[in-house]
Amino acid sequence: MPPYGKHMKKPKGNPMQHEIPPLFIEGNSVEDIHDIKGFEHYAQNKLPMNIATFFSGGAGDEITLEENVSAFDRLKLVPRVLKNVEKRSLSSTVLDQNINFPLLIAPMAFQQLAHPEGEMAMAKAAHEHNIMIVLSTLSTFSFREIRVNSNVSSWFQLYIYKDREITKNLVQLAEKAGYKGIVLTVDAPLYGKRVKELYNPLTLPSGLEVKNLQDAGLDLKGISTAKLPSYLASLLDPSISWNDITWLRSVTSLPIILKGVMNPKDIKIAIEHNIDAIIISNHGGRQLDTSLSSIDTLKFIRDSVEGKLEIILDGGIRKGIDILKALALGAKAVMVGRPILWGLAAGGEEGVKRVLTILKSELDLAMALCGYTSISQINEEILFFPNK
Ligand code: LAC
Repeated sequence: MPPYGKHMKKPKGNPMQHEIPPLFIEGNSVEDIHDIKGFEHYAQNKLPMNIATFFSGGAGDEITLEENVSAFDRLKLVPRVLKNVEKRSLSSTVLDQNINFPLLIAPMAFQQLAHPEGEMAMAKAAHEHNIMIVLSTLSTFSFREIRVNSNVSSWFQLYIYKDREITKNLVQLAEKAGYKGIVLTVDAPLYGKRVKELYNPLTLPSGLEVKNLQDAGLDLKGISTAKLPSYLASLLDPSISWNDITWLRSVTSLPIILKGVMNPKDIKIAIEHNIDAIIISNHGGRQLDTSLSSIDTLKFIRDSVEGKLEIILDGGIRKGIDILKALALGAKAVMVGRPILWGLAAGGEEGVKRVLTILKSELDLAMALCGYTSISQINEEILFFPNK
């Protein structure tokens, strides 16, 4: 059997080499897509060039973007055997929140650019899978709309803006709306140099709004939709410092999670500031090119954590096996962005659910083949370290 079904266009070239998966045809079921590469291929073909570039592109020469993925594949497994893996569970917790498998949906801006169901589809699919989402400040459905329409457990992603009053209003509105944590982005005091985006600038179609910021008091009169993305980037505050963590604590009682921590020295300072969790992230390779890949960073920093805060790994996850490797290196959970966005682009809520099901079942299989029946058993004994 060729690796494409009746709903697929026959790929050019040798069909047994499915490096590039067959193109999914509009109108057919997302059940016909079996891996993240299939979703990526589909979304990249479907979305207009500047939107595909905005979501998939990275900073500079995209070295970190590529390494986030390839570093996972370089890390090799040495599985255990004969462990009776008949009955398995993937359930876990993140900051005491029960989840059915250890994955959070990453904050990503402007999701209605990918599909009209946007962030709402993410929230509904995450709720059905009983996992968590992190809603972006730059969401196209407001945090209130999401809460009214779904009971998903969610954290709110925050940037610190030059206007602290607006920043404070965002936090307090999110807290009032029932969000359970503030994920502060700390790796974007300035917007990265995304070269492809400069050649294919993102413009927001009229009708798409950044409702959270407007609800928090931002006046966007006189800013055209074409100029909006760069205007929003100009509002980021390059003066943010550890003092702002103290300030943030004074305006909210929610747990604070720092997104974008990479250096052991910063982990030490985060522990001193009683931070509850950190997200190891290079912003999906979108900020500082040639930053270390997320999985290599986890390997590098994990000893500095001393169990004093929870670690979530973000960046480069494309398979369930990648999740297993992150957990084996000590991550409590992973956060996934682009693969889920490609699912959204392919089929709205159904596409998101399908991507989550694929990643979950791949993780389940990888665990079983490594001799594990629960998340808490996973440890570094299955990782091959050539120099040890
Ligand atoms: C980005 C910003 C919006 O990565 O965080 O696109």
